[in-house]
Amino acid sequence: MGSDSLQRLDIQHSLHPVTALAAHEKRGPTVIVSGRGARVTDADGHELLDGFSGLWCVNVGYEQPSLVEAARQQLETLPYATSFSHFGNAPAIELAAELARVTPENLQHVFFSLGGSDAVETALKIARYYHSARGEPQRLHFISLERGYHGSAFTGAGMTALPAFHAHFGLPLEFQHHIPSHDVYRHPAGPDPAAIVRAGLESFHAKVEELGAERVAAFIVEPIQGAGGILVPPPGWLPAIREACSQHGILFIADEVITGFGRTGPWFGCEHEGLQPDLMTLAKGLTSGYVPMGATMMSDEVYRTLVDRVPEGTVFGHGFTYGGHPVSAAVALAVLRLYREGLIDHVQQVAPHFQERLAELRVHPLVGDVRGLGLLGAVELVSDKESRTPFDPAAKVGARVHAAAYRGGLLCRLMGDTLGFAPPYVCEKGDLDRIVDLFTQALDDAAAEVERR
Ligand SMILES: Cc1ncc(COP(=O)(O)O)c(C=O)c1O
Repeated sequence: MGSDSLQRLDIQHSLHPVTALAAHEKRGPTVIVSGRGARVTDADGHELLDGFSGLWCVNVGYEQPSLVEAARQQLETLPYATSFSHFGNAPAIELAAELARVTPENLQHVFFSLGGSDAVETALKIARYYHSARGEPQRLHFISLERGYHGSAFTGAGMTALPAFHAHFGLPLEFQHHIPSHDVYRHPAGPDPAAIVRAGLESFHAKVEELGAERVAAFIVEPIQGAGGILVPPPGWLPAIREACSQHGILFIADEVITGFGRTGPWFGCEHEGLQPDLMTLAKGLTSGYVPMGATMMSDEVYRTLVDRVPEGTVFGHGFTYGGHPVSAAVALAVLRLYREGLIDHVQQVAPHFQERLAELRVHPLVGDVRGLGLLGAVELVSDKESRTPFDPAAKVGARVHAAAYRGGLLCRLMGDTLGFAPPYVCEKGDLDRIVDLFTQALDDAAAEVERR
């Protein structure tokens, strides 16, 4: 089908996620038609270096024959099997064991879903089930961070703390609460890491006190806040809150949908500080985006409670038709093999170079902050570096940079006036240099446009 027909049909029939719908009716879709390695091509034949791995998921790049072969073989052998009511399939069983091996030691059990949002729903429901089974059914409340992102299913969207996910949906719900982010660049306590950790603990304790510790089920947090602007917590912040959760009997859920599987260097983001969460949510890098799949990992302690503390014969009333899908599981196993056989080592080798190159952008007149870890990075634009004053949103400076980058052959992620990077792990140093060089050009082009206004 030709490009014009696709444009017309899309406008007539499709709603696009996290997109201004009226604007989309006017501009139509940007159709991506093929991918190879770290590059994709759009319907106009324009080739782009994908600096964002699709939506921070195509970690292994777009051309991995072993994944195609794993999917093909599984489709031929058994394209579907349910996991309901004691049924199972070999790839899902092997994958569960493999995940128990690679995730932090205490996480030994997994519940499969279709993506990150339902992995989050699962974690939140398990937290309630756990407390209820232990005789504390009043623990119904959840706490997360401002600017956190935990998917867009109904409950997860309430834990997400970005305005577009709440307005018009009647969210957050009455049992969902948020405390301030650790955002180092704009923290009211200033940049001192110890002061930010202290402030985080104070707001956590204050929220718990306000709700009553005995009514709080869980705290959910991304090891690095992703969609909220790629915010890296100062050292000590996560362990301090984790410890506070343990003190109050509140479950600690690490949402590793972005940070899982080597994105920040180690296999999981919470390993930077040796954290052992009670529950962990996974998706994206699990199958590297080739097929949909999510997973919720849980500690032995949580699992044994679900098993042993309910009357015999009680059904765990939660599940998805496609949970533990054999094709997704077969692909995930092949992805994990690639990670194990060198891709995550490669991230650890090239990431310092990427971070150094990104940091050079600090001197650019439009740039206020550069931050990141591993192959994850962000550049925040400001109108005044000294006072850290944001641009007037009407000037759409971030969008101008994003558009200029696209024209120049680079895909990055627009998050207000913050631009995000999450390159595929197959990038060599030269590709990472190219990402920064193309982005620098985009900054220059946008700066010239802003000056002309
Ligand atoms: C931290 C986090 N949790 C959950 C999700 C939701 O995942 P999905 O879009 O696969 O439902 C995302 C998606 O970006 C995410 O970044």
